Amino acid sequence: MPETYNPQLGREHSYPYEHQAEERDWHWGMIININRCINCNTCSFACKSTWTSGEGEEYMWWMNVETEPYGGYPMGWDMRLLDDLGKDETIFEAAEEGERVKGYVAQKEEWEYPALGDDQVHGEYPTGDVVESDLENDEYHDMWQFYLPRLCNHCKNPACLAACPRKAIYKREEDGIVLLDQERCRGYRKCVKSCPYHKPMYNPETGVSEKPVGCFPRIEEGNVPRCVSSCIGKTRLHGNINRGPDAGHPGGNASAAAGRSPVNYLAKSDEKIALPLYPQFGTRPQVFYMPPYHVPPEFLTQMFTPNTDEKRNDWPGDTFEESIKIVQDRVRNPSHHTLGILQLFGATTRLIETYTVKEHRVKGWDRKGNKVVDMPFEEEMEVREGEMWTNQ
Ligand code: SF4
Ligand code: F3S
Repeated sequence: MPETYNPQLGREHSYPYEHQAEERDWHWGMIININRCINCNTCSFACKSTWTSGEGEEYMWWMNVETEPYGGYPMGWDMRLLDDLGKDETIFEAAEEGERVKGYVAQKEEWEYPALGDDQVHGEYPTGDVVESDLENDEYHDMWQFYLPRLCNHCKNPACLAACPRKAIYKREEDGIVLLDQERCRGYRKCVKSCPYHKPMYNPETGVSEKPVGCFPRIEEGNVPRCVSSCIGKTRLHGNINRGPDAGHPGGNASAAAGRSPVNYLAKSDEKIALPLYPQFGTRPQVFYMPPYHVPPEFLTQMFTPNTDEKRNDWPGDTFEESIKIVQDRVRNPSHHTLGILQLFGATTRLIETYTVKEHRVKGWDRKGNKVVDMPFEEEMEVREGEMWTNQ
């Protein structure tokens, strides 16, 4: 199998189709601020009513929200695979003889309870005590939980694509969205088995599989996906994850800002505060999470870092656990620049290609260079003269 360089792991590993992982100018990417998610599942229902409301799609939740550490759809999907992988082993390296990817097929009963474990807290309430934490001194109290929104990551090394013997899954040149061609699909279900995030699903009514589509018709029109626009907690930002600091003016419009996209800044700048979910699987997922700052870093280290013993210079701390603490602190006390970008979350349904943060004002432009956001950090407040008071 050819080798491909995986920047999330800082090393090469095997991947069957090297060219699929090649970088594009434009690539679908999403940032989710976990600290803002309230498990209302508006995103889940927006996605379901748009894409999977037909026959045979009843159990398909392309977008779902799990309560960590006990929830999971399908049940226990992450630990089950992690337990089967060796230390520092991707799902491609761990593949058994005759397979391209290591995975497992979740059984019917594992798909039956999308909300199992919801709101279940880790730890026990100390009877008669007040639960307190002292985050300033790194003291995380014993009781915690958080909500983890989960969707297809439109991976740069997609396991679903690698596994399909029919080559029915492909990555679009123009935006990296990973799609499944139902005309080519013969229902082999290798994609269902191989995706470590369990997002391709089989339709027993049609005999072929389906997978999340990244809301591509909305992206083509310059809008953000429905899970992003419907999110009442304003947890998400969507855009071009590949647009780095050296990019030019969008749409050739010189009055628009040149330079990187806001999603690229949050996931890839020196100040990065958004991390991929289980990068150790090796698929290079393109949804990046701002981790919850009230959760013990040991737990998050396993979830959001390669979790190896190797020292990595592109992480801020000497160990991954120390790096997580630093990232948690950045999320809790954002820099002025990051604070500006946080205002862009949920600010418009248009896809923000570039942005500027100047003093206390943030602006955003779409892919054609049209301005779509222009707002202050704090809402302006107008104090009206109250005649009713002066007349009294
Ligand atoms: Fe494929 Fe799964 Fe990655 Fe989506 S998350 S691109 S379905 S491997
Ligand atoms: Fe391929 Fe999955 Fe269909 S493996 S044939 S896309 S069920």
